[in-house]
Amino acid sequence: KIVPVILSGGSGTRLWPLSRAVLPKQLLPLVTDNTMLQETLLRLSSWAQVASPVVVCGNDHRFLVAEQLRQVNLTPQAIVLEPVAKNTAPAIAAAAMALKDQDVLMLVLPADHVITDVAAFEAAVRRACVAATQGKLVTFGIEPTHPETGYGYIQSGAALAADGCFEVARFVEKPDAATAKQYLDAGNFYWNSGMFLFKPSVFLSELQQYAPAMVNAVSSAVAQSYQDLDFVRLHEASFAESPSDSIDYAVMEKTKLAAVVPASMGWNDVGSWTALKEVQPNDEAGNATRGDVYLKNVKNTLVRAESRFVAAVGVEDLLIVETSDAVLVAHRDCAQDVKNIVDHLKASG
Ligand code: GDD
Ligand code: MG
Repeated sequence: KIVPVILSGGSGTRLWPLSRAVLPKQLLPLVTDNTMLQETLLRLSSWAQVASPVVVCGNDHRFLVAEQLRQVNLTPQAIVLEPVAKNTAPAIAAAAMALKDQDVLMLVLPADHVITDVAAFEAAVRRACVAATQGKLVTFGIEPTHPETGYGYIQSGAALAADGCFEVARFVEKPDAATAKQYLDAGNFYWNSGMFLFKPSVFLSELQQYAPAMVNAVSSAVAQSYQDLDFVRLHEASFAESPSDSIDYAVMEKTKLAAVVPASMGWNDVGSWTALKEVQPNDEAGNATRGDVYLKNVKNTLVRAESRFVAAVGVEDLLIVETSDAVLVAHRDCAQDVKNIVDHLKASG
């Protein structure tokens, strides 16, 4: 059996002003009328051999997460609450500890990605099951298209006995631009999709080897956790002791058990407004709109109107996002700089 473990703890600051701390990207209906979290789970709903999910999220989002699952008739086996955010490795470790006595594979999924070819995704997961059952930590490799520095890079090695599955020669998290370009030119590198499949026990023994302090803190947080309504509350003081790190740095860069299943599945992590524009329908002039919008002589522009009428005339290459209390107007080449606005707002209180 496969247990989906959904990571729903990010803050999505590059999608300001829509994505906010109280209502981050994964809890918003960004692409369809369902939220990203709901889409992540609905994508798996018709698969065989998939158990009900474990969702790991911050304490502040617990009621929203529970309500969004209810809306699509999903009953999780647990909603695990992190008292403080410690990045993905401790979140995944907590889920692994809760599952380690079951004979299952964990399918770790970020709650905020788009996958358009679900059949290809399912086929990749089925291939990965073979290797994961044999004790591999399986990643899903995406064909890179540009030297993105916000992703992990996976160099594939020898083919494994499991069909469509390869050893990982090297895993490099977020290389600098020059290194990313080298990897792209080398040709046998994939982007890490941020999704993983493995046995809970294999992940935990690797984590024990490479991040023992994290295992100590998280296991004591799990041992002292308690059920509160639908939620599992991790022990705050113990979890707070955990070092903060991502699975990519803490385990994937170091482990010798990594494998990769390359998959072409229309994956997009919707990390910015330009990425969101790509996964939406665009008209002949390259515009994507949502809400009450008027365009005249506009090209290659995203316009999103949440609460008011928005008109754009004679402009191109813009990102325009209107919400009830803030408006963003940015050049599309500056999509990554949107997170600086959030830093500025935080600093100025
Ligand atoms: N529960 C929980 N707690 N979830 C978290 C936490 C946390 O403390 N921090 C992040 N997440 C969730 C985010 O919401 C997101 O869904 C996922 O975990 C990955 O975190 P990101 O912060 O978005 O990671 P990243 O984009 O920098 O890098 C990862 O994803 C890339 C692909 O999108 C890495 O795995 C890269 O190697 C990968 O290429
Ligand atoms: Mg991300």
